[in-house]
Amino acid sequence: MPTSARVVLLPGDGIGPEVASEARLVLEALAPDVEIDERPIGGAAIRATGVPLPDETRDACLASVAVLKGPIGDPEFDAADVRPEQGLLALRGALDAYANLRPAVADGIDVLIVRELVGGLYFGASGVREDGTAFDTCEYTPAQVERVVRRAFRLAQSRRRHLTSVDKANVLETSRLWRRVVDAVAPDYPDVQYEHMLVDNAAMQLATNPEQFDVLVTENMFGDILSDLAAAVTGGLGLAPSASLSDGGPGIFEPVHGSAPDITGHGTANPTAMLRSTALLLEHGLDLPDEARRLSSAIDAALALAPTPDLGGTASTADLGAAVREQLAVDGVAAGTYGE
Ligand code: NAD
Ligand code: IPM
Ligand code: MN
Repeated sequence: MPTSARVVLLPGDGIGPEVASEARLVLEALAPDVEIDERPIGGAAIRATGVPLPDETRDACLASVAVLKGPIGDPEFDAADVRPEQGLLALRGALDAYANLRPAVADGIDVLIVRELVGGLYFGASGVREDGTAFDTCEYTPAQVERVVRRAFRLAQSRRRHLTSVDKANVLETSRLWRRVVDAVAPDYPDVQYEHMLVDNAAMQLATNPEQFDVLVTENMFGDILSDLAAAVTGGLGLAPSASLSDGGPGIFEPVHGSAPDITGHGTANPTAMLRSTALLLEHGLDLPDEARRLSSAIDAALALAPTPDLGGTASTADLGAAVREQLAVDGVAAGTYGE
């Protein structure tokens, strides 16, 4: 870890600040030398500055070692021209955080979805024509596909050496490009067994037989949808973290879930996804794998003691956060297994 490392904390909207404050306490406990720089993004930033990603927030993120981000999004802006989500896409683009790792782990299931994050429909030309026609364009360059696919192959090498590439090559030109690139780079990873799967079948297989998957790599929009599904089959959105990595620059560590307007302000949001994102930040962003393992073990133990309502329990956000910190205090040495 670099000395005087600075992490930017973006609490976000809705339940974001509720789960971010638990993550902050844990990060302070495990990495006391890290400076935490809190900045607005999303709806909170629109209210404060008129834009969802103020230049100051973007520049602070670019100059940081890692970004820890709560969810953004607020129904207040549903019909507005300037939306919170635009700030998140701009941040992912500015950091070139192209490889979005979304692990989903439960008994007998250990899937790592690698979602391309800065291309495809989210970043293509879009608009509304005078006649009312709306359009969103899906484009990928070979280089954009190659870098994320190679990353997924390397991740598979560090795991169970199986890769499923998910596309819609029976219909989409971008998917046929995706398939050609996967086939072209695969010989560089002869120890990895790989397959192609159509996205509709992949959704069905994830729901009915998720044990078969190791690493799954796919484009931006398919990855968005499949990662909520993978979260649902492994305990729910309240548990699902992510890491969005670039080549050498700061990564973004954030839950898969959104700002959950339906439970905002109740103090009942599950902070686990945010805390597991903090563990991914300790591992990939700060190069503190022992601290990451300690945090993961503490979360596992705390969840058994203080489950939140989404898991059938009664613990509040703060109760579970406190239980995690208590476990960290009693379990002062590295323990347990962690990992993707
Ligand atoms: P959501 O993920 O916010 O909520 C879906 C359901 O899951 C809701 O019932 C919610 O209460 C529940 N849920 C989510 N996180 C939870 C947690 N930590 N603990 C307990 N329950 C939890 O999805 P949505 O309602 O479709 O979207 C709400 C807003 O979030 C939208 O504005 C959307 O754009 C935004 N969003 C942001 C991100 C992000 O910042 N990365 C991700 C997804 C959605
Ligand atoms: C996610 C979210 C975002 C996405 C939205 C809020 C732009 O759903 O991180 O999964 O679609 O990438
Ligand atoms: Mn999503």
